[in-house]
This record gives sequence, structure tokens and C-alpha cells, in this order.
Amino acid sequence: MAIDGNDFLRDIWYFAMPSAALKPGEMRDKTLLEEPLVFARTSEGKAFALRDICPHRGIPLSDGWFDGKELECCYHGWRFAPTGHCTCIPSLTEDQEMDVDAIRVRPYPVEERGGGIWVYMSADPRGRAEPKMAPPDLPEVTTLGPGLTERMIFPSHIDHAVIGLMDPAHGPFVHQSWWWRSKRSIHEKAKRFGPAEYGFAMLRHQPSSNSAAYKLLGGTPTTEIRFRLPGIRIEDIEVGDKRVCNLTTVTPIDRQTTEIHHMMYWNVGWAGALKPILRVFARKFLGQDRDVVVKQQRGLKYDPNLMLINDADMQAKWYYRLKKAYGGWTEGAFENPVRETTLRWRS
Ligand code: FES
Ligand SMILES: [Fe+2]
Repeated sequence: MAIDGNDFLRDIWYFAMPSAALKPGEMRDKTLLEEPLVFARTSEGKAFALRDICPHRGIPLSDGWFDGKELECCYHGWRFAPTGHCTCIPSLTEDQEMDVDAIRVRPYPVEERGGGIWVYMSADPRGRAEPKMAPPDLPEVTTLGPGLTERMIFPSHIDHAVIGLMDPAHGPFVHQSWWWRSKRSIHEKAKRFGPAEYGFAMLRHQPSSNSAAYKLLGGTPTTEIRFRLPGIRIEDIEVGDKRVCNLTTVTPIDRQTTEIHHMMYWNVGWAGALKPILRVFARKFLGQDRDVVVKQQRGLKYDPNLMLINDADMQAKWYYRLKKAYGGWTEGAFENPVRETTLRWRS
């Protein structure tokens, strides 16, 4: 089963950190899905990740040293290559024969795209299985690297973070502000949705006229918003040859802590000058989403029954259906439970 006891999907790629957060020769410890990992980048620039536990006596490898090639444990100096194989046990005398190479720390497949480090969290505790698929496909403009990166911690399980971020009906209440929308601007929406890779998409459309932020781009923008398991939202905006992409990734740290990264990419020269303003808006926006999740936790601790209504909560229903289908998927092509349809709601 590709779903674990914490309700985290396994055998799937998660966003771990922005590429810029790991310089050549650096290592960084990070808990993901309640597992301790150490990420490092060789002096040649290749990122890798290992389980952050020395197989000798269990001390975190991140407490040791990294010389840009190998990790060295701080306790007895055992050394480990990026593949996880042990390369040296300093206490061995010349005549003591030991197959050092057979000792291996669990490696995690790592790939970089869109200026981010992605890690494959396998269900196999030794991590020997090959990834079932590649990391998410991102729009072309993401190869330029993010112009803006924001990070936020939500004190909730990933499920509530994901459905809170994708929820179309909370906008006028949670995100009230002059530059986005107000309660008075509520009107009926009808949007076409369809299945997409390991998820679903709000098919390409012209965004609603009450979003003042889009007007900045001039012309008539069209937007496609894709959601993909385990919690990746890709908003792809086109205006003529201008492209803007918003990438939001949701990654569980543990059962009660979820990390959100929001990255913006653009090929619009002048957008760089707007960075300070964009940053303020992105922070405010994400902060509003986090604050409402913080309030929600006060109710959720009593484990109440919850409701998902049509059509405003349909995307949340799809998320749970997709997660269940993925969790039970063992062979053949993945069967996406989402069908093309129009959803209608007021927001
Ligand atoms: S605990 Fe790591 S080398 Fe002994
Ligand atoms: Fe929101």
C-alpha cells in the first residue's frame, strides 16, 4: 500500500526545498513524513538525500561533516558516499576484513526541477524500489527559476492544508482585501474541470473579472490550474507570449505540521521590479490561509464529523478519491477517478 499509518502517500515525489537553499558543499537536515533525512549537495553541484541516521550507533549524520564528496559521522568517523554506501571505517586495522561497502544508509531519489529539490518517498523502508514515475511536469517558464519563493508552516495534517488551499469558496471571506476581492463581489462561477496526471485540472479559461491582480498583465489572460498528488498546485497563466506560473507545494513534516512553498515564475521583464510588492501580497495571502487553518485546529481537536458539499467542495472530494486510488494502486496504469465536468459555485 502506498499510504502509511499517518495517512501520508508513499511512492510519490514531494517538494523538499528550493534548490537555492542547498549550496555546493552544504548539507541540511530535514524531517519529511516523520522521517529524518539529510540533504547535501556535492561540490560538483549534485543534490542527494540519505536517511539521517548513522547505521553504526544511530547518531544523525547531519551532526557530522560533509567535505563536498562524502558524509562523515561525528561519532566514529564512518564515511558515506552519496549513494549511501559506507566507504571507510577508520577503526579497522589493516588485517581486519570487513565488507564495508555492504553497509548502506537508505538513499532517497532526488531530482531538481523548477528551481526546487524533489524527493521520492518510497513505501519500501530500505528505499530500494525505483520511482514509479518522474517528478511533476512543470510549465516551460519554470526553467528560468523562481522569481519569488515564499515558505510557510501550517500547523495541520497535509489533508487540511491541501483542501484549505484548493477550496474555491473561502476566497471572499478569508482573502478579503481591496486588491483581490470582497464579500460584495461574490458571484456565480462555472468552471470546466477534467482529469490530469495524478490529479485534475481547471481547464484553460479566462480568470474571473473580479481579480484585480490579473489586470496588471494587460491583454486577456488565460489560466489553467492543475492539481496533482500529493499536494501540488500549478497555475499556468498566459497573456500573448507572457507567462506567469504559480507553483504551490504542500509537504508533510509530521502529522501536525505541513510545509507550504509558494514559488512564482515569469518571463515578464518588469515583473522583477514588482518583487517587493508581490512578496507582501504572497505572504499576506498565504498567511490568511494559515490563520484560518490555525483556527480550524481548535475545532478539529474534538474530532468532529465534517461535510463536503457539492459543488464547492468537489475538488476536496476528488483529492480524497485520488488519494485513495493512489494508495491502493499496485499495477497497470493509474486509474484516475475524476471525470470531465463543470462545477458551479458562488465566490
Ligand atoms: S555512530 Fe556513526 S560512526 Fe559510529
Ligand atoms: Fe486561500
